[in-house]
This record gives sequence, structure tokens and C-alpha cells, in this order.
Amino acid sequence: MGNVNDPLPIIRPTLPDLEAVFAAVRDSYDSGTVTVGKVVDRFEREICRFCGVDHAVAVSSCTSGLMLSLAALDAPKGAEVIVPSFTFAATAQAVLWNDLTPVYVDCLPGTMTVDPNEVEKALSTRTAAIMPVTIYGLPPDCDRLSEISREQGIPLVSDSAQGLGSTYQGAAAGGFGRCEVFSLSPTKVITAIEGGVVTTNDSGLAAKLRSMRDYGKGPDGEEMLFNGLSARMSEFHAAVGLLSLRNAEALIEARLNLIRRYRERAAELHGCTVQDFPEDRTSSGNYFTLHIGQTAAKDRDAVFHALKTRNIQSKRYFYPPVHAQTAFRTRPHRVVGDLPRTWSISAQALALPLYSHMTAAQQDRVCRALESLLK
Ligand SMILES: Cc1ncc(COP(=O)(O)O)c(C=O)c1O
Repeated sequence: MGNVNDPLPIIRPTLPDLEAVFAAVRDSYDSGTVTVGKVVDRFEREICRFCGVDHAVAVSSCTSGLMLSLAALDAPKGAEVIVPSFTFAATAQAVLWNDLTPVYVDCLPGTMTVDPNEVEKALSTRTAAIMPVTIYGLPPDCDRLSEISREQGIPLVSDSAQGLGSTYQGAAAGGFGRCEVFSLSPTKVITAIEGGVVTTNDSGLAAKLRSMRDYGKGPDGEEMLFNGLSARMSEFHAAVGLLSLRNAEALIEARLNLIRRYRERAAELHGCTVQDFPEDRTSSGNYFTLHIGQTAAKDRDAVFHALKTRNIQSKRYFYPPVHAQTAFRTRPHRVVGDLPRTWSISAQALALPLYSHMTAAQQDRVCRALESLLK
């Protein structure tokens, strides 16, 4: 990637050394216990320490973790789950696979996380859960959402896919609500190549999820207690996750430094804004998005296409709003209001190349391209 015109991808996983992965997984491999064995166990314990929680349940993906976390609520068919429309599709998919009804609400203008006032408006007698989402790595307004959850007696099941390593009021993400579900896919800061992990302080929920990720097996392994899934984590994936997790501080710091530089350069671009970073929380640095407003020299889509011709990959993200996508608008749902902020942010957001080992020269190339288009 040394050449000025080489393809510049939007994201690249920063992977641990392969020999170290082999060394970490060798015992399991030789023993034949190659899934949910010693390494998964160690990974879960280190996640507990990292997130400051009592339980971590490793699963095959964040999506399967969300599906199981919602299934564990045993809500009746058609019960409602409040979700932001400004999110990735998997948030809604986890709801729909459970035969529950997503209720889409608007986001806040600055952090772009779910608006707690809109969540309150969306509550009904059928609400089974609220599913806040970590946006680009930034946690939502956890205090207000916890308050609503407590007052209404409705659980928070958090889609924290992008948020492993983020903090809220000085505490690591992981202990918010009934459970948080993180993704470990290759686009995440900390990756297991594929995978996810559910964190919770509820021992009953953790035990249920352990069973449910393995078809819902009971103690004898024969009779199924729950309608589960095949959603285990392999020892190999856990080894990659474990080594990635041990490097978390450096991975996050590198991204936050890159984001700081992007934000400084973005301040020079007329009509462009960036996500608010309130002082009470920190981002995991999963994505950096530039928000190209109506007074900018070019619109978002024009910039997206122009970057592509320069071999720089970017992504309209999240776009289109989930509730308006083909897969979801034809399924049972409710929309609370017109979601004006979701529509406008979704029309302006452009995620730019960002990964922990991205060089200053690569970042400079992106910034110079943007400056030539937007200054
Ligand atoms: C907000 C959000 N939720 C859920 C997911 C799904 O994660 P996974 O690919 O691990 O299932 C993603 C993945 O990018 C995401 O960004």
C-alpha cells in the first residue's frame, strides 16, 4: 500500500501474529476439544476483567448474541422492541428472527445515538425491551436510558457491536442494562475474525445463554431446555480474540489518534461536521464518519463517488435508515414520528478509511482528497 494510487480500504483488521495464535490454540487442537474449550473459557474470563462484569458468554457473532439475548426474555410473539432506525441492519434482524416487532425511533443530532425522549414516546403495553446501539464506537446516553428502564421495568438489551473498549463515566462498556452484546467480526477494533460476546451481571441470564448458544442443551446434554441456536465460539476464534484483546489499549489508542487528526482536518471543511464526543464517555474508535451538510461544496454521494475514482473506499453509513430498507419495511413494525434526524444524518454520513495500523501517509491521502473536493 505504498503507492499513491493503491486501493485504500475502509477497514482492515489488525490481526495478532499467526504463530502466537497457533501457540495459544495448540493444546486445544491436540486434545480435540476445539470448540468452547479452555481458550474460550480464558477469553471469557479476560473479557469479564476488561469490561468489569461478572459474566461473559462468547458466541458465534454479535447477531446470534442479540438473537439469543432477546429470545432469553421469553416475550410473546409480536411484543415490541424499541430500536433506533439509525443503526446497522443486524439490530432489527435480531428482533425479527424472534417474531418480535421493531419500533423505530429517532436518534440525537450530535452523538447520533438513540434519543431517550423518543424511546419514552415509543413505550407501549407491548414493549418487551429497549435496544440502544453504540454508534461508531460511542455509547448512548446510558444514564437516561437506565432511568427509563428502571421506571418502566423494561430491560435494556444493548447492541454494543462496535463498542468493546468504549467507556461511560469512567466505566468500561459491558455492564450497561441487562446485557450488552459486542461484535468481534473483522471490522471491529478487537476481533476474533468472527464472533461475538454477551456481557452481563445477571448469573441466571449467563447460564441460560450458555445453554442457548449450544442448542439449548440441559445438563445431561440430551434434553433441550430452550429453543437455542448453534452459536458456539471455536477455540481458534477465541485464541485470535484473546490475543487481540490483550492488545486492546494500543489498538484503541491508535484509532483515537487517527480520529483526532481526522476531526482537526474536518474542522477546515466548510459545511461538514463530526460526531459529538461528550465528556462523560469515550469511543472505541470503531469508525470515523464525516457528515457532509447541505452547505458543503459537494454532497455526500458526490464525495463518495469521487473518492472511489481515486481508489479510496468509503461507506455511506448507516444508510439507508433501517426502517426504510426493503427487508424491513415489509415486515411488521412501528415508526415513532418522521425520524427527521435519522433521515438527515443518514443522507450526510460518510465513513472514511480507519484501522489501527493505518499510516499517517494513508490518512493524509484521504484528507487531501477530501480537501480537494470540499475546501
Ligand atoms: C450496530 C451493529 N449491530 C450488529 C452488528 C452485527 O455484528 P456481527 O457481524 O458480529 O453479527 C454490527 C456489525 O457490524 C453492527 O455494526
